[in-house]
Amino acid sequence: MIQLPKDEALTPKPSPHNFFIWGATMSGKSYFASFFPHPLSLNTDGNAEQGSTPSIQIRNVRNKDGKLEQSAIKQLDEVITALQSQPHTFKTLIVDVIDDICVMIEQAICLEAGVQALSDIPYGKGFATFNGVLQQFVMDLKALPMNVIYVSRELAITDEQTGTTEKTPSLKTKYYNIVNGNCDLVIHTEKFGTDTYTRTITDRRTKYEPENIKDARVKKLLESCTGMF
Ligand SMILES: Nc1ncnc2c1ncn2[C@@H]1O[C@H](COP(=O)(O)OP(=O)(O)O)[C@@H](O)[C@H]1O
Ligand SMILES: [Mg+2]
Repeated sequence: MIQLPKDEALTPKPSPHNFFIWGATMSGKSYFASFFPHPLSLNTDGNAEQGSTPSIQIRNVRNKDGKLEQSAIKQLDEVITALQSQPHTFKTLIVDVIDDICVMIEQAICLEAGVQALSDIPYGKGFATFNGVLQQFVMDLKALPMNVIYVSRELAITDEQTGTTEKTPSLKTKYYNIVNGNCDLVIHTEKFGTDTYTRTITDRRTKYEPENIKDARVKKLLESCTGMF
């Protein structure tokens, strides 16, 4: 029989493990993420070989008939299984970039169903499948005993009337909500001029105390973010 917990107030000592980093191209997203402890990167943009982080390239591969030969969905599944079952020393998983992973999941579902778009799959089943796959992916990553970092590009929208520019993560809102529902900290990277890089906390699950962050390296990285402590 299930053992109920004691009826008592707890004093949590929260420490962030799931991160969302967004910023313009070349603003230092991958660079910052690479300093987290023992990183492994799930890479989509093909420029991983320029970095020092070990990586796995995620992609959909089609055969000459246009059929799906290697599905990104299956590949992600295999990565998660490997991280769960193989002995390894990785402590941080970087999803670089999540925007592309979402597009690949969408493509894989469409290719498998032989349609052009999710909306071509009847009764909303395409969208439902997509949400299920993304939700499962995010939940599986969260359950790993590792830091997880989702990297997303930036969307800058300028209001013609006022001339102000609003910057947001480029991940579509409904996907952003699925991913971010499982993140503890949102970090915006920016580059000014040719060599000034900044990092700013734009959202957080709770107020974190430096003494609760056990990993010294993670603590130091977070201390370099404006608005953290
Ligand atoms: N904080 C930083 N200090 C010094 N150089 C940096 C910093 N952040 C990024 N860079 C430089 O800028 C380049 C682009 O950064 P990168 O992280 O690859 O950008 P992206 O946001 O596109 O992932 C890196 O190769 C690195 O040389
Ligand atoms: Mg990058």
